[in-house]
Amino acid sequence: MEERARSCLLRSKDTLEQDIKASYLMDHMVSDDILTNDEEARVLGKPTRREQATALLEVLLRKDNRAYISFYNALVRESYGDLANLLHSDLPLLSPEGERSFADGVSPSVQAILREGGVPQRPVVFVSRPTLLNLVREKLYWLKNTPGWVTVFGMAGSGKSVMAAEAVRDHALIKECFPGGVHWLSVGQCERADLLVRIQSLCFRLEQGQSSDASLRPPCSVEEAKERLRFLMHRRFPRSLLILDDVWDSFALRSFDIQCRVLLTTRNRSLADSVSGTRFEVPVESGLDEEKALEILALYVNGKPQKLPEEARSIVSECKGSPLVVSLIGALLREFPDRWSYYLLQLQKKQFKRIRKSSSYDYEALDQAMDASLQVLEPEHRDLYRDLSVMQKDINVPAKVLSVLWGLELEEVEDILQEFVNKSLLFRDCNQRPYHYYLHDLQLDFLCSWLCLSLCVQRFTDRP
Ligand SMILES: Nc1ncnc2c1ncn2[C@@H]1O[C@H](COP(=O)(O)OP(=O)(O)OP(=O)(O)O)[C@@H](O)[C@H]1O
Ligand SMILES: [Mg+2]
Repeated sequence: MEERARSCLLRSKDTLEQDIKASYLMDHMVSDDILTNDEEARVLGKPTRREQATALLEVLLRKDNRAYISFYNALVRESYGDLANLLHSDLPLLSPEGERSFADGVSPSVQAILREGGVPQRPVVFVSRPTLLNLVREKLYWLKNTPGWVTVFGMAGSGKSVMAAEAVRDHALIKECFPGGVHWLSVGQCERADLLVRIQSLCFRLEQGQSSDASLRPPCSVEEAKERLRFLMHRRFPRSLLILDDVWDSFALRSFDIQCRVLLTTRNRSLADSVSGTRFEVPVESGLDEEKALEILALYVNGKPQKLPEEARSIVSECKGSPLVVSLIGALLREFPDRWSYYLLQLQKKQFKRIRKSSSYDYEALDQAMDASLQVLEPEHRDLYRDLSVMQKDINVPAKVLSVLWGLELEEVEDILQEFVNKSLLFRDCNQRPYHYYLHDLQLDFLCSWLCLSLCVQRFTDRP
């Protein structure tokens, strides 16, 4: 239900509760297909007229615009003219034209669903990625009639979370496939205890407004939380979509293996192998094309892409089109509009630590975002990955070369490389046989600067 309508109901709640007779109104609402017979019975199960009115309003507040309109019409038909007048000025538009005419296909009712589900808003500066967006939505449509998983994967800062949120900003998709709503949960790197807290908070959110559950204690273990979530998703929110953002561990993912509909963002492509059910994948390219990246810079500095200073193209090229890096630079330029050459130089000198800007992104700076991926590798694999800094820009190498570099059997090397590829730390060129591997330029830059730093630290600590 859109915000205006909901707040009108909340404002008028006391007056409505005092006067209405729920049983009369519900007859109309059941025949409008707004209330189910079960819901009606639950309301009628309350002992007093006033409690029935309270229960009906609670049910109503969890529903959409149609419910508000049906309730309004019921008031009119049952001669509660004064009360209907209270609601009249906030009646939502419901015609398909009304719904469609809202910006970007997001009607107020869908906006309300997304807001309630905790789906993040667009970043202040946003550029469209239509091909990728269509791909994600197309996969989500597959979940219309069956539970399953859509995995959106790619390297740090490639725009997975932004894309997942964007994909559900679509009236038709929500109404057709996920009428039960959308529930966003940021998972991140977490221990068992943190995971429990996250699932508890999701359950708490889903249970809100369900007065019968007020006495339930929070689940005490991940297993118990999983069962509670299973119950809520199947009984209370059937045909809804759970968005699990930024999942790292298969152990965490398995806690959501409850045969519901899930959209998952992760840097680790193989994560969904650990769960059951239908699975779809969408890779997110690590970089935007030059025009899109320039568009981001232009939006940040409130200019036109054609009018940007000459350093703009070089900055975009140094950022390798990464939406994250371009946005970090754009946000800095908005504050310091005469620093184009300075930031270009910082990028060229790989001074990633200087490129930081607090934003809604999970990491403060680029090096932290990259480093997070390395920290989840086994220590031996981390050392091997570090050796990849010898790779040359724009040169792809076969596993055999790395087998010589690392002094390991070819098969073992292939397994390790596969792990790096799955974790979006390395790319594989499948057009060549045997496969050739390469680092994204940003990863190579990051690796080199990381190596320099470790060498400096080592030299410093080795000093007598
Ligand atoms: N379409 C876009 N338009 C403008 N900026 C974008 C877009 N997509 C991403 N960004 C910028 O890049 C940043 C990182 O995007 P996002 O959080 O989606 O990356 P991610 O792939 O989820 O990264 P991680 O693996 O660290 O979770 C955003 O905070 C935003 O500033
Ligand atoms: Mg993310």
